Amino acid sequence: MADVEALVAALTLEEKAALTAGADMFSLVGVDRVGIPQVNVTDGPSGARGLSYPGAGGAASSCLPCGSAVGATWDPAVAEALGELVGREAFERGCRGLLAPTVNLHRHPFAGRNFECYSEDPLLSGKLAAAYVRGVQGNGVFATVKHFVANEAEFERMTMSSDVDDRALRELYLVPFELAVKEGGALGIMTSYNRLNGSWLTEQQALLVDLLRDEWGFEGLVMTDWFAVASTETSLRSGLDLEMPAPARALGAVVGEAVADGRVPEADLDAAVARLLHALDRIGALDEPTPPLVPKPPTAADVDLLRRAAADACVLFTNDGLLPIEPTAVPRVAVIGEPAVSACIVGGGSAQVVQHPQTSALDALTTALGDGVEVTYARALEIGRSAAVLGTSVLPAPDGFTFERFAGEAFEGEVVERGGLDELRKMVIRLGQPEGEDERWTMRITGTVVPAVTGRFQLSLAQVGTSRVYLDDELVLDGVEDPPPRGGTDFFGYASLDKVTEVEVTAGTPIAVRVDYFYRGSGMAGVRVGFRTADADALLAEAVATAAEADVAVVFVGTNQEWESEGHDRRDFSLPRGQDDLVRRVLAANPRTAVVVNAASPVDLPWVDDVPATLQCWFGGQELGPAIADVLTGAAEPGGRLPTTYPERVEHSPSHDNFPGENGHVRYGEGVFLGYRGFDHRAVTPRFPFGHGLGYTTFSLGEPELSSPTFEPGGTLTISVPITNTGSRAGAEVVQLYVAPGSARLARPPKELKAFAKVRLAPGESRTVELVLDDRAFAYWDPGEPDGDVVAERLGDMLGAQQRAERRAPGWQVDPGTYALLVGRSAGDLPAQLTVEIPEPS
Ligand code: BGC
Repeated sequence: MADVEALVAALTLEEKAALTAGADMFSLVGVDRVGIPQVNVTDGPSGARGLSYPGAGGAASSCLPCGSAVGATWDPAVAEALGELVGREAFERGCRGLLAPTVNLHRHPFAGRNFECYSEDPLLSGKLAAAYVRGVQGNGVFATVKHFVANEAEFERMTMSSDVDDRALRELYLVPFELAVKEGGALGIMTSYNRLNGSWLTEQQALLVDLLRDEWGFEGLVMTDWFAVASTETSLRSGLDLEMPAPARALGAVVGEAVADGRVPEADLDAAVARLLHALDRIGALDEPTPPLVPKPPTAADVDLLRRAAADACVLFTNDGLLPIEPTAVPRVAVIGEPAVSACIVGGGSAQVVQHPQTSALDALTTALGDGVEVTYARALEIGRSAAVLGTSVLPAPDGFTFERFAGEAFEGEVVERGGLDELRKMVIRLGQPEGEDERWTMRITGTVVPAVTGRFQLSLAQVGTSRVYLDDELVLDGVEDPPPRGGTDFFGYASLDKVTEVEVTAGTPIAVRVDYFYRGSGMAGVRVGFRTADADALLAEAVATAAEADVAVVFVGTNQEWESEGHDRRDFSLPRGQDDLVRRVLAANPRTAVVVNAASPVDLPWVDDVPATLQCWFGGQELGPAIADVLTGAAEPGGRLPTTYPERVEHSPSHDNFPGENGHVRYGEGVFLGYRGFDHRAVTPRFPFGHGLGYTTFSLGEPELSSPTFEPGGTLTISVPITNTGSRAGAEVVQLYVAPGSARLARPPKELKAFAKVRLAPGESRTVELVLDDRAFAYWDPGEPDGDVVAERLGDMLGAQQRAERRAPGWQVDPGTYALLVGRSAGDLPAQLTVEIPEPS
């Protein structure tokens, strides 16, 4: 352990100031002179990306199931194991900080980053977050819980004010952070871009100091989100320790100047530096530099974990017995839909990693079903928001593409970068690097596409900078002479709209592809060549015919990383690009149809009651394909339960009136009635309740027993629930316990999840699950009476003694009375009910 106080004392003012800002995009500043090494950090929740970016190159990383998938496991042990894996990979990449987990809540189905977050429920989110943090930090890497706080939409994400009342903050949005700190020992917090009740998070001492450090005992470092607003004068005092990334704007050298001219007390700077160094010291990062190792591919045990976790996350919505598929009973299986060969495994934005090669669900299912089953496949629809990238799907480039980046303006001069690409999308990230506006360079990408089909395609070009696309040496898209306007979503929103032309290809006839790219100092460089099938109706017809000829059809539908992404929210509850129509037409052609939903947030499922079986598989990480095959064939249980309510209509979502906000403010108008709390409160029946999910076996819950008929505040109460696997297969069940206050002084949700346990049982096996409740299971946050003084002043003696006595300071409040304890398998299936008394204080 380092002597942090001595280190701080040994630093010059400039060195201390420098430590409060990043050194570059993903490193903190080191001070060699006193032996403080430079520390690197990496995103993020779904894998340790290191300095690699999809499209920009670099080593591949394991891709974990996304946040909502982890939420669906309802299993802290799985979250901890995944945290351990990602922490280890972060360390291997020379990083001592991980920018994860993301613990904002699922407030609305459209929020772009729902996929990163666990749940609509704060307890489930917080228990999973704490476990993930423990896993990460066991590897000498600090976890950075983000984004603190009330960052539940992407709309105007850098400026929006989330206007949230104290009760909703305390009872919902702060809870996952609180548990990650108190139970997970998190050593990092990232403030969010948004404002909270009108003020930047980086300037809220009440949250960053009074709550986080003084009340919760947080001992780590607080950093900004990337390029988030901070203030030189107030942020350090408010509890911010680090501005990321470089070049610094509010902290760093600027703070040194502010201290020198007396605007910022040096003691505030010293305190921030000490907090930062303490956090780094706690994970051993001050001892010596952490050089990157050669990143290893995941071990067999890692792959097994990723596969089990993905299966554990799969939620079986409905099943009339069609699943699992028995190979002996179905000689012909039709697999339909793009996600069967290219399922989305992680949403868009900073959570993405350079991926390892994967086995598709189609291939895994074909293998699992064995030689006796004929598996046919039809693509059916192209579901992307933008065109598919050239080199994938039916226009593959078997040997990939190669690129050369030249220092010169005409494909000459020094080659500054050279490499291979699997698909024709290349990005060069220049953000945050000092450069001249007039910087110019060029890049040439070449490769050969061998079409798998004959037909007409719309070929499209999206770019940052300008480029020309040649097929067999003929110029087909000229983005230099006639560049398309800005407005695309790729390349972090810097891309142009698509420039499109139509081309005809013949199956098996190779096409030489060349892209000439010209960089013009735009801060970001990118080029992407995509394609769409011109005759979409023919694709659909082929899919229907394929389904009609099979004994069972499995239709894969979903969104992808373009629809669910950092940077923008979804706008439509329906599955994109006519996939509902696809399901209906396949179902009409083959009534024995199962649907697999590859989406990470709730989507509309208008056909779900007509389809024999529907399985939700989220963005399940790199082993998603094999995991889906495991679940479809019964090699694994669909172990998941919904971490978020699936509404019948998106308009039923309690936050819908106030999403995504207007005029710079999003009012969390539903207050504490978020998710199932709001559905219960308004007596609206959702399509699928929170906690729902079927299995392939059956369980019976016995009569729960209480350790005591009364609960004394300050103590604990144990509920013992016997559970038996009454079926003939091994399986998993999640025992869920909700607390319902009999009467309440303030408006309260009818019931709230207060304990849960995932149990895996062999056929016939029984176990007794013990669920423990403490004060917080019964408590609400009493915001006190902020207007009490006004009332007292205006009414004075007219107030009765009774009314005055009831005035309270803000705080957690447990009211005496009768509480119901509801035990079961989902918020909509709670057969066991007990009551407990909380006596009046004596
Ligand atoms: C995201 C963070 C992420 C950071 C660094 C930001 O845009 O909001 O979650 O950690 O970028 O990539």
